[in-house]
Amino acid sequence: MKALVLAGGSGTRLRPITHTSAKQLVPVANKPVLFYGLEAIAAAGIREVGIVVGDTHAEIEAAVGDGSAFGLQVTYLRQEAPLGLAHAVLVAGDYLADDDFVMYLGDNFVVGGITSLVERFRADRPAAQIMLTQVPDPRQFGVAELDAGGRVVGLEEKPALPKSDLALVGVYLFTAAVHEAVAELKPSWRGELEITDAIQWLIDAGHRVESTVISGYWKDTGNVTDMLEVNRLVLESLDPAVRGKVDGASELIGRVLVEEGAVVRGSRIVGPAVVGPGTRVTDSYVGPFTSIGAGCVIADSEIEYSIVLSRSSITGVRRVEASLIGHDVEVTPAPNTPRAHRLVLGDHSKVQISS
Ligand code: DAU
Repeated sequence: MKALVLAGGSGTRLRPITHTSAKQLVPVANKPVLFYGLEAIAAAGIREVGIVVGDTHAEIEAAVGDGSAFGLQVTYLRQEAPLGLAHAVLVAGDYLADDDFVMYLGDNFVVGGITSLVERFRADRPAAQIMLTQVPDPRQFGVAELDAGGRVVGLEEKPALPKSDLALVGVYLFTAAVHEAVAELKPSWRGELEITDAIQWLIDAGHRVESTVISGYWKDTGNVTDMLEVNRLVLESLDPAVRGKVDGASELIGRVLVEEGAVVRGSRIVGPAVVGPGTRVTDSYVGPFTSIGAGCVIADSEIEYSIVLSRSSITGVRRVEASLIGHDVEVTPAPNTPRAHRLVLGDHSKVQISS
């Protein structure tokens, strides 16, 4: 069995945060979301992984390399344009050959991994096995319609009037039967070859399509509230360790990970929290559910329930809460007089200022 990981896309900057345009590299608890998918694939006993890449191939290849860090053998498959998830399967046709495979969307995060789903598929081998999850706004997803017995009878991509609140999760298991389906497809209303249509084709052609409803699912949508929540969820099971230096005047409480080269001085860190490699925390308070990236400076400040990406500094500010701070950002207090806010904010920024 192989895995097909989709890490292509147009490279347009869809989210306000991250300097990178590859949304699969958005960090969750200081680790790119794509890495959790690769780890889940390796944990399920799969070794051969094809990664579909587009415009952002250099960033993805630099991050993942040959896959050996994950115990995987990675082959990069270039897709000339993001023409759809089923188009990615077409591009990967020769690589996948007649093997069964799991298709994993690189910006999806499934809590608890995929091992049990892969085991079930290996034992049962339906033409397609899909995962569904309840979502508040199904119009942003592929949506499944089930009959009274729980069998999938219809699938629609981003319907204006969804027939259920069950969204397709971006992890699909297929036998080689899917290749015939993708070869038959025509572009959808949004100009893409939809994997949803390929699965509908399998149902209509009388193939068996099985589904499981799961909870614990997140997809990168650029939504800050969701991102803080998934970060919190992952930090809940953080393995605490001190790999950097913590001085005697500092206090670490609960699950705290201080990564290599990080220095904590005169500070109080209440976990779960992670302090990235090379980051310096001095005379500060870092509260629960906070991820501070690599090479940051937190000095004379207080921060909690927040994400700070690499190389940013927060100096003399209290208190920062429920915030998402990008790469190479500087946060400092405003001078006392004149009393005014001085802002240099990137496109689509959202700021809440108490005044
Ligand atoms: O995330 C789950 C949803 O993913 C499903 O509910 C939908 O049925 C499915 O169509 C898909 O919806 P999106 O439109 O949100 O997919 P997105 O364009 O975000 O692409 C998903 C991943 O696949 C992302 O990591 C980029 C990559 N991709 C996408 C396209 C269109 C490719 O590698 N190649 C492509 O051509």
